[in-house]
Amino acid sequence: MYEKDVTLNKQTTIHLRPGETRDFEMLWTMLSTLSEDSLQFLHNRFIRDEIETGMTHIDYDNLLPIVAVVKDQATGKTRIAAFATLGFQRGESRKHRAEFDIIVHDSYQGKGLGTVLTQHMLDIAREKGLKKVYLKTNTGNQRAIHVYEKLGFKIEGKLIMEHYHYLTQQYGDDYRMAIIL
Ligand SMILES: CC(C)(COP(=O)(O)OP(=O)(O)OC[C@H]1O[C@@H](n2cnc3c(N)ncnc32)[C@H](O)[C@@H]1OP(=O)(O)O)[C@@H](O)C(=O)NCCC(=O)NCCS
Repeated sequence: MYEKDVTLNKQTTIHLRPGETRDFEMLWTMLSTLSEDSLQFLHNRFIRDEIETGMTHIDYDNLLPIVAVVKDQATGKTRIAAFATLGFQRGESRKHRAEFDIIVHDSYQGKGLGTVLTQHMLDIAREKGLKKVYLKTNTGNQRAIHVYEKLGFKIEGKLIMEHYHYLTQQYGDDYRMAIIL
């Protein structure tokens, strides 16, 4: 259920599967080579030690990481093209929902991977019996908003001055978006 092969543009085969501890170096390579265009929409700075700790102690009941793995045609090496998470909530009043996050590496953006991976995470959420998936996105992140709305997410509200960005050194607004499954 959590594993799937998808073909982008009828040529690139991507394998979606749960992330594992052994993926840490590949994941770090992906995160540490994102462009500023991508980083402007990712509000937390990536710190190698923190990512390593997270990948060493994966608790799938708490946070499900899914990696999109691809064989790079130029180098023949396997790499992570995208990474998404579902953060499960605890407690009787919140356990019907999960928080979603996604990053597609620049070299794979605009090829349909973000759409496919988001849909895959929604399929997993449905399979797990969840009722709601939600996220926060920068109000200026038109591409992400387009993908989410295309798949059925709706804007629930605007959160003013919700984040401070270490790159721009500015405060910014987010939308909270959600889909009822
Ligand atoms: C946002 C992100 C996940 C989307 O993934 P992706 O693989 O690039 O998206 P896809 O190729 O599946 O789809 C992109 C869609 O956005 C559309 N799009 C591209 N630029 C756009 C823009 N400026 N405004 C509106 N829509 C835009 C494309 O036309 C396409 O829509 P279509 O499928 O209806 O034609 C990815 O670009 C990303 O990770 N960006 C950096 C990090 C980030 O923003 N993460 C999300 C945090 S909430």
